[in-house]
Amino acid sequence: MSAPRQLRLGTILHGASGNMSAWRHPAAVADASINFNFVKETALKAEEGKLDFIFVADGLYINEKSIPHFLNRFEPLTVLSALATITSRLGLVGTLSTSYSEPFTVARQFASLDHLSNGRAGWHVVTSPLEGSAKNFSRDQHPEHALRYRIADEYLDVVKGLWDSWEEDAFIRDKASGQFFDPQKLHALNHQGDFFKVAGPLNIGRTPQGRPIVFQAGASDDGKKLAAKHADAIFTHHESLQEAQAFYRDVKQQLEINGRRPEELHIFQGVSVIVGDDAEDVENQYQTTAALVSVTDALNYLGRYFEHHDFAQYPLDEPFPDIGDLGQNSFRSTTDEIKRNARERHLTLRQVALEAASPRPRFAGTPEQVADGLQQWFDAHAADGFIIQGGTPDTFPRFVDQVVPLLQARGLFRRDYPGTTLRDSLGLAQPANQFVKQ
Ligand SMILES: Cc1cc2nc3c(=O)[nH]c(=O)nc-3n(C[C@H](O)[C@H](O)[C@H](O)COP(=O)(O)O)c2cc1C
Repeated sequence: MSAPRQLRLGTILHGASGNMSAWRHPAAVADASINFNFVKETALKAEEGKLDFIFVADGLYINEKSIPHFLNRFEPLTVLSALATITSRLGLVGTLSTSYSEPFTVARQFASLDHLSNGRAGWHVVTSPLEGSAKNFSRDQHPEHALRYRIADEYLDVVKGLWDSWEEDAFIRDKASGQFFDPQKLHALNHQGDFFKVAGPLNIGRTPQGRPIVFQAGASDDGKKLAAKHADAIFTHHESLQEAQAFYRDVKQQLEINGRRPEELHIFQGVSVIVGDDAEDVENQYQTTAALVSVTDALNYLGRYFEHHDFAQYPLDEPFPDIGDLGQNSFRSTTDEIKRNARERHLTLRQVALEAASPRPRFAGTPEQVADGLQQWFDAHAADGFIIQGGTPDTFPRFVDQVVPLLQARGLFRRDYPGTTLRDSLGLAQPANQFVKQ
């Protein structure tokens, strides 16, 4: 009989928070995105909770309208290398784009992080959604979507080939004989493809995990195909249980098409969480965060759903205006839901706009309720694990102190790390070296 499925947990490092205004929250560290002490405390808290990994997202283009966290933050591999020295079990997952980098450099960087951390490196492979990135990399054009994924596919073949350059026991370092390595255990890649020509070998030995763990986040058909072929884990986001289940089923089926077993790839749902003492506390926490979003931003945000309707013409603190059928021809299901919600809960325009701009976290409640929600999604095969994003600046410590013990008591989440590497934590097998006959 196979062992029961184990829930996996990670957390995302996102400064004061992922929304426009969270840095203004009374409990926020306003410069958290560039404050190593904050980063360090978050990582140590994650390790205290026995979480699988900390995750650093990234982008390659900003403008003055970007979320504050994006304006001034650490480069992922640099900050993860610093964390490698002060943590001992926590996985360290960083984002790096296949559209704006070279495979030899990236293979080397993640191999270095894997050695530095004794086997805890993960690479979140992205193809870069932002067109402006091209302007920062001496390119005239951002490669289009399908091309980006073709590049990424070949890129991953190259990087994986480079990571197999040296067999595990290639470096003999025999002082008496003077033999530093066994030439039989060195393999040059000699790759020639549509996009890359890379001879190899890589100038760093096979890593403690065999190779770093590969994450992927694109959710289009091409994105799912890339993940089913190459990835060990997916970072995704779905609002409803049904959508998450459909995505889960689809990806797991595609794995089988690639000759892989469903348990060889973990699907992580990124979820926003608030943990409170009771319903009133949860509501207060949510309202404190939501109130930081400016009303002008919120009205513009709301108006976009209704064919860019100008809501500034109505009184803010009176019941949501009667706008007839407006919205039917745009975001119909969303606008129907907004109107129904406003009517049933007797909300004012201000309340409706602020809730749209600052949606309620999917998993908000007492520790038991948050644990119940996560368990429901896990049991229903909507996720193999979750990447926890705090709905308020103090959510994450509360999650570790109050929700993790419940998940442990229910036998869903382990009480200690099963080994030393991220691969051990995720229960993934050591990969074979493509140059070694099995
Ligand atoms: C949950 C999630 C997290 C993502 N994180 C990043 C990121 O950190 N950096 C980045 O450049 N793109 C990120 N992306 C964008 C994807 O890598 C991809 O470029 C985008 O989703 C478009 O591809 P798709 O059409 O296959 O979804 C993320 C996407 C999702 C769904």
